[in-house]
Formats: sequence, C-alpha cells, structure tokens
Amino acid sequence: MKTLSLVVLISGSGSNLQAIIDAIESKQLNAQISAVISNRPDAYGLTRARQHDIPAISLDHKHYQNRELFDQQLQLEIESFKPDIIVLAGYMRILTTAFINAFSPTILNIHPSLLPKYQGLNTHQRALDNNDSEHGVSIHVVTPELDSGPVIVQGKFSIEKEDNSESLQQKAHKLEHQMYPLVLNWLSKQRLKLNSDMPLFDEKPVLTPLLFEATVDAG
Ligand code: GAR
Repeated sequence: MKTLSLVVLISGSGSNLQAIIDAIESKQLNAQISAVISNRPDAYGLTRARQHDIPAISLDHKHYQNRELFDQQLQLEIESFKPDIIVLAGYMRILTTAFINAFSPTILNIHPSLLPKYQGLNTHQRALDNNDSEHGVSIHVVTPELDSGPVIVQGKFSIEKEDNSESLQQKAHKLEHQMYPLVLNWLSKQRLKLNSDMPLFDEKPVLTPLLFEATVDAG
C-alpha cells in the first residue's frame, strides 16, 4: 500500500500536527510528512517538526508584498515535495484562489465549528454568544470560498453551563487530534477519495458530513 505523502501547513502551536506525527510513529497511519511549512517563523509547530526530523520551513508572509506573491512562493515550496495531500492544521491565512485551484481537491482543512456555522474566526466565543447547546469540529475539502468546501466529517460535543472559550477550545482539540489522523488514514486506505469536489467514502458520495462517533468505523 502506498504511503500517503503530506505537506502540513501551520501558523501556531501545531498540536494537530503532533497528533498526525504520533499516529504515523505509532504506525496507526501509513503516511509520511514531507515538510511542515509555517507562515509564522515563531510557530511552535516548527519546533515539533524539527524534533521529529521533519523538514520545517518558515515562510514569513510579512516578507511578501501581497497575498498573491506569498502564495506563489508557497505553491513552489509545496510542489517541490509533490505531496498527495496538503493538510491545513491551524493555518490561519486566507489562501488565494490561484493557490487553491493549483492543488484542488487535495487540500484539507480542520475548522473548529460545525460548518456551515461560524466560518472564520472566534468560533468558540460565537457559539457561546449564540447560546448554542452543541458545538464541534469539521474537516473539509478546501475550495476557494472560505470554510465552505464539502465537509467530510464532523465531531460534536455539548456546551455546558460552566464552559468558556478556553474549555471549548480544549474539547475541540481533543476531537481534532483523533479526527485528523482518522481522515488521513481513510485516504491512505483509499476508503476516502477526493477526486472532483465531491468526496467519496467507501465509494458513496459524502452528501452529509460523516459523524465522528462510535458510529463511524475507525478502521
Ligand atoms: C485548531 O483548533 C484548528 O481547528 C484551528 O486552529 C487550531 C490550531 O491548533 N483552525 C482554524 O481556526 C482554521 N480556521 P493547533 O495549532 O494546536 O493544531
């Protein structure tokens, strides 16, 4: 079985990156991270990558005149690794349409909300402000419109009275760290296919997001 080749884009702590590294090292995931690229030089995720001998590239967006020039350089860097999948793991920069079209449909993103709810930033606080009783995490295919591509899988949790933005972030992370390795595992086993813009799971179109729960086969 072919080893799935990944390039992971980050902007910060990289705890999702760590979960993917751990899944690979414990042989739960047949993948290889060819490079980790951060648009922020101080992202802790770069340190995590180096600790595991993964090429860690800092591409500071502040050194580029505009988004187009930055994304062109990012595209060149990524193309040199020829990845099967580009994994956005806490990558906090909007990507240009040209960049997305260059790699579509092989860019995945993890977003801390039950999309289509709360696209963009501050998702946890917005769920609290809206008095939502549940909240969650989505993994979706990236398309040019922000946080709007087809959702593959969602994980949900309830919002309790004592929750605040930090506790929701922790709950989200706990799910995310299981969900990203799982989705990548499905890709490596070809249970999930991203050809065209309609993902297929076990050869069936994913018309509504799969629910990450005991009901979803983790194999
Ligand atoms: C994650 O919670 C991810 O869902 C979110 O950033 C966090 C990164 O954490 N992504 C977005 O908000 C994308 N719009 P990490 O750096 O510890 O993996």
